[in-house]
Amino acid sequence: MPMWLFVFLTAFKVTVFCKAEVCPCDTKELCQQISDEKDFEVLVFDVGQKAWKSYDWDKVTTVAAFGPYDSELMCHAHSKGARLVLKGDVSISEIVDPGNRTAWIADMVDLAKRQFMDGINLDIEQEVADSSQEYYALTALVRETTEAFHREIPGSQVSFDAAWSPGCIDGRCYDYVAIAESCDLLFVMSYDEQSQIWGDCVAMANAPFNQTLTAYDQYLAMKIDPKKLVMGVPWYGYDYPCLDFSQEGVCTLAKVPFRGAPCSDAAGRQIPYSVMMKQVNNSMSGRLWDKVQLAPYYNYKDQSGQVHQVRYDDPESISLKTVHVRDSGLRGTGIWNGNLLDYNDNPVAKQQTRDMWEALMGL
Ligand SMILES: *[C@@H]1O[C@H](CO)[C@@H](O)[C@H](O)[C@H]1NC(C)=O
Ligand SMILES: *[C@@H]1O[C@H](CO)[C@@H](O)[C@H](O)[C@H]1NC(C)=O
Ligand SMILES: *[C@@H]1O[C@H](CO)[C@@H](O)[C@H](O)[C@H]1NC(C)=O
Repeated sequence: MPMWLFVFLTAFKVTVFCKAEVCPCDTKELCQQISDEKDFEVLVFDVGQKAWKSYDWDKVTTVAAFGPYDSELMCHAHSKGARLVLKGDVSISEIVDPGNRTAWIADMVDLAKRQFMDGINLDIEQEVADSSQEYYALTALVRETTEAFHREIPGSQVSFDAAWSPGCIDGRCYDYVAIAESCDLLFVMSYDEQSQIWGDCVAMANAPFNQTLTAYDQYLAMKIDPKKLVMGVPWYGYDYPCLDFSQEGVCTLAKVPFRGAPCSDAAGRQIPYSVMMKQVNNSMSGRLWDKVQLAPYYNYKDQSGQVHQVRYDDPESISLKTVHVRDSGLRGTGIWNGNLLDYNDNPVAKQQTRDMWEALMGL
């Protein structure tokens, strides 16, 4: 190799190396990974932009970065003793091959290190048949990811997003017992619980009280350590256009099938808590309370005159569930997602936002 090329390549390599390793925070200490455990986990998904500046950082313990990487968020989280973790999403068919799996994990570890991050949240929500190749590959992925992260980033956290119920919901037949043993925690997504409606095709709660808590009992009955379970709650609801709206207030849905079920919440549209709070007081019904599902809802008429029913969660319905986190000794709570509140400065929004954060504490 000519000397000039060698010098050029060496200089290039050094430049790239340094660039990747330079700590973007005010002080170098803020780039150090967080490794201590809090008694009560509050895991927040963040989908980008700057809403995180308004988060209640006395409560947050982990932020899963589902938006673009934001070094300012990393520095801030670390200054509050909170973790920032990567999003891990890969097609399972691509990691059945052990070599490909190892390569994917190495890429993730490398990315986390270069960005001074504290772990990874595995968000793999694909259909998997019981005891299939993919079933075993997924468990191996979780185990090997955890081993690699713990080895390369001591004290890092590897979490896995679990369906609201372990019972093959949405065709996700995963080996939850082995997966829970193989990672630090399961973030149980206690929402979208109407993704498969087998009975009457009508609007129902996103996260009904009894159904939600029964599913935790099922996870615990499988001998999964309660300290591995984080209860994920929704800061969004569903807006359902009603094909028929009965005198009793039952909203009949269009039949939109999902993974084998004839009817699903896909007949509705997900909307943020901030949007619903601007709508509810001026709606047809105002806030109503579903005494069976223990969750709020309201009805409104759109410009064409069609009735919609909006099913959601608020501090009252969330608190009813999160007290169970304390009672059952679970690891903590979490939200999909942190961006969905109204972080404006007016007193009503501020109070609503405070109440939503408070409801996560299960007190
Ligand atoms: C393994 O990875 C290679 C390179 O990314 C890809 O081309 C190949 O399809 C993968 N194999 C499987 C079985 O997915
Ligand atoms: C609670 O949910 C479980 C499982 O979905 C069901 O079997 C049970 O009847 C429900 N209990 C009440 C009081 O609704
Ligand atoms: C809606 O009504 C509730 C209950 O009366 C009140 O607490 C809340 O501040 C109102 N929301 C707005 C945006 O005015």
